[in-house]
Amino acid sequence: MLRTHTCGELRLEHAGTAVTLCGWIQKSRDLGGMTFIDLRDRYGITQLALNMDSNAELCSFARKLGREYVLKVAGVVKERENKNANIPTGAIEIEVNSIEVLNEAITPPFTIEENTDGGDELRMKYRYLDLRRASVRSNLQLRHQVARHTRAYLDQKDFIEVETPVLIKSTPEGARDFVVPSRMNPGEFYALPQSPQTFKQLLMVSGFDRYYQIVKCFRDEDLRADRQPEFTQIDCEMSFVEQEDVLNMFEGMVQHLFKEVKGIDIGTLPRMTYADAMKYYGSDKPDTRFDMRFTELNTLVKGKNFKVFDDAELVIGICAKGCADYTRKQVDELTDFVKKPQVGATGLVYARYNSDGSLKSSVDKFYDEAALKEWAAAMQAEPGDLMLILAGPLHKTRKAMNELRLEMGTRLGLRDKNTFSCLWVLDFPLLEFIEEEGRFFAMHHPFTSPKPEDLPLIDDMLEAMKAGKLDESATVPRANAYDMVINGVEVGGGSVRIFNKDLQKKMFTLLGFSDEEAQKQFGFLLNAFEYGAPPHAGVAFGFDRLCSLFGGADSIRDFIAFPKNNSGRDVMIDAPSSIADKQLDELSIALKN
Ligand code: AMO
Repeated sequence: MLRTHTCGELRLEHAGTAVTLCGWIQKSRDLGGMTFIDLRDRYGITQLALNMDSNAELCSFARKLGREYVLKVAGVVKERENKNANIPTGAIEIEVNSIEVLNEAITPPFTIEENTDGGDELRMKYRYLDLRRASVRSNLQLRHQVARHTRAYLDQKDFIEVETPVLIKSTPEGARDFVVPSRMNPGEFYALPQSPQTFKQLLMVSGFDRYYQIVKCFRDEDLRADRQPEFTQIDCEMSFVEQEDVLNMFEGMVQHLFKEVKGIDIGTLPRMTYADAMKYYGSDKPDTRFDMRFTELNTLVKGKNFKVFDDAELVIGICAKGCADYTRKQVDELTDFVKKPQVGATGLVYARYNSDGSLKSSVDKFYDEAALKEWAAAMQAEPGDLMLILAGPLHKTRKAMNELRLEMGTRLGLRDKNTFSCLWVLDFPLLEFIEEEGRFFAMHHPFTSPKPEDLPLIDDMLEAMKAGKLDESATVPRANAYDMVINGVEVGGGSVRIFNKDLQKKMFTLLGFSDEEAQKQFGFLLNAFEYGAPPHAGVAFGFDRLCSLFGGADSIRDFIAFPKNNSGRDVMIDAPSSIADKQLDELSIALKN
């Protein structure tokens, strides 16, 4: 070992001890007769002190050393005159006897400090330097803790970790696959797994009744702050269970993680149906850190000659507490906000419930004060509150109000990153109609089971299909599918699987697969199911998302050691990149241009 201690562990009680430390020069300061160097390693920073009077040669040598040089330093621990209460080693310094330069460093392109001067792209290009910064390093340490406690919990519950292949065939999830050409099988491709979904189901057929894996997944989809092309899941599956068992098991896991990693008791998770989430929050991942639920106003507002409301399929309002005194400018900002294309509303109606008890709205021509009082009662608005109302087609209006609600939550400081609100969203629709394709798709995946009480709806849909009358107006069965949502982020999702052959066949028919196509795509799974498939169900958590929530960050990138940028590039290693003609030849691939 080159060192006796780390740069984070020496305290006053070590005074007088001879030590050897290794690390990088964070910075140095020359103060006339003294030179101070901050030596940094993974564990912290220790101050080195060199005195011109007592050791002029060593001090002069130290003054020539640049930032990020790698040193091995021997010396004696001394109590500091000017203590630094901000760092754990702030009471001591090392009186240096010898310095060995283990390696020199050229000047880094940005400062390795909390508030670095490096922009995003620059830091990504030199990610190995960015990772030297304490905040980025602590994110990865947090990630390690989350993984460790996840394994401990699942191990204690008899789950075993099984690795599944990375070179596979397309999985039935929604996104595009990344594909890998096969040299040995010209013209054929592997797909990288979007998740180990089919493999974990096969493991259930094999009898491994409690499986988990902390596993890389790959999806070629448009990227956002909470999406990476390669990301990590805590992927789990159980046999001989019902939905309730899965919910309890993984509610337990998340409670355990909050307790161990954050020291927070999150209590029992509330449950909300998908239908209620859409009705009250306009989103299947409601941010429940704050209330501000939607109130449906159709019955109150119609028939008063206000065309916008009369013609609307849905009129909904939210009550912004204490915002009655919003200025004209602030209200205009909100109107501009809801009219943004990505929000999609045509306009915003508002009503102030003034502190003196009077009411005033932007539609006073149509609604008198008595009418506004009724709105206020419905929305539980009190004097001092501002009512914000949107109208239009059902889905569009809910979606726009979701955005406005989140915007108001942010403006009112109700979305604190250190507050956590977790819930289960249950009973997702089994299928969703995709307009461009003109057919139904599995909302989760084709192996998700319908709720038993909704089974007759499947037969109704099949009949309509046979008659050529199946369209988006069909009543869609609900699924035994669930998502876990924390602070408005979908952190996990899963379902009870179909293990009955006939039902699976019906599902494929509804999804427009012929027997032949189903066999071609999923034959391996369907065949396996012929050999005694147990009832099974599972869930997968977005591991990066969980970590970034625990760390209070907006982007999962900060919790991934080597992430991709928004164009899916790794700018550090410069990937993706072109390959040599020889490689293309070997793969029997000709590029179009
Ligand atoms: P699903 O597709 O819902 O389910 O994925 C599970 C969880 O993975 C996270 N996630 C992502 N995180 C970062 N970047 C991405 N591109 C990304 N995509 C998804 C989300 C999500 O909730 N096989 C099923 C699970 C099952 O049924 O058991 C599945 O993959 O947090």
